[in-house]
Amino acid sequence: MNSAPAQNGSSSSDAGYERAVRDVYAAAAAEPDASLCCVAGTAWQLPGLDVPPILHEMNYGCGSTVHPSDLAGDAPILYVGVGGGLEALQFAYFRRRKGGVIAVDPVAEMREAAARNLEEAARRNAWFRPEFVQILEGSADALPVADGSAGVVAQNCLFNVFVEGDLTRALAEVYRALAPGGKFSTSDPITTEPLPEALRRNHTLRARCVSGCIGYEEYLQALEAAGFGQLIVRARHPYRLLTPQEHPELDHAILLESLEVLAVKAASKHGRAEVFSGRTAIFTGRGHAPIEGATFASGMPMPVSDRMARDLAARGDFRVTPPTYYARAAGCC
Ligand SMILES: C[S@@+](CC[C@H](N)C(=O)[O-])C[C@H]1O[C@@H](n2cnc3c(N)ncnc32)[C@H](O)[C@@H]1O
Repeated sequence: MNSAPAQNGSSSSDAGYERAVRDVYAAAAAEPDASLCCVAGTAWQLPGLDVPPILHEMNYGCGSTVHPSDLAGDAPILYVGVGGGLEALQFAYFRRRKGGVIAVDPVAEMREAAARNLEEAARRNAWFRPEFVQILEGSADALPVADGSAGVVAQNCLFNVFVEGDLTRALAEVYRALAPGGKFSTSDPITTEPLPEALRRNHTLRARCVSGCIGYEEYLQALEAAGFGQLIVRARHPYRLLTPQEHPELDHAILLESLEVLAVKAASKHGRAEVFSGRTAIFTGRGHAPIEGATFASGMPMPVSDRMARDLAARGDFRVTPPTYYARAAGCC
């Protein structure tokens, strides 16, 4: 990672966690580590895709970033932090062309493992060729691609390991790499309450996707600060319970959650990012209510942003439903 001082917050040089990240992932490349990250539920089963078992064993994500509805068009998909290659293979399933997926990772052992795994995938799937995924040496804070060259960028369970300054740089790089209107599909563990400093300073636990977690609001704010105008919260569910028995730095158990967000490189009409967390607004008056270019029909739930939900809840003629954290697309406003 870049060792230049961060513009704000901690820098990688004073945090000194890069070595732990490298060591953890070099080891996880040599030998699948079932305790590293934990995916709740099985990975997508796609018709005609025979996933080699090693790819499941090396699934070091905490959710899924692969959503067919993001993948219209043919612009390359940039995948940051290749791991064993499972999601790169799943993205390649949809692109099916040379270089359709570009996967970046700084850990040589991990790049080599992913390349081997994709060779195995090619032996099992007649439609797949390893060159569909171009694996590049590089880091999230200096992505080796041109400005605006990616239609979709994805990362799964990597950005939570970064200290603040590195996270800011990584998000700025994602934004730079995306074409206007491009989509960033991101999945990370988050924490439901602040983690004690002693735990946050544990480099190995940070590298293992535990102690670097930030909260839900902070995560969305970081995406907004990077410039993303629409944030669609796709999933939020329990990830792991940290207990004092396991972590003596804790005086009570803390629940971590897994969060999946689609962040869109689009301007916001209202100066702030619009967050879609699954809320709807239902017009309770008669007929229709035209608001901000949308028409709300009486009794019909309409997906709305959190800002719009707040505005409409204050009017008295709308009923607003709580977040589901399962928004499928941006709704009204
Ligand atoms: C938790 S694993 C996730 C792997 C994969 N996304 C998955 O879902 O299985 C993190 C991955 O990011 C890689 N990595 C570590 N530091 C990185 C950096 N600065 N930039 C890009 N990738 C990095 C690791 O080598 C590892 O492959």
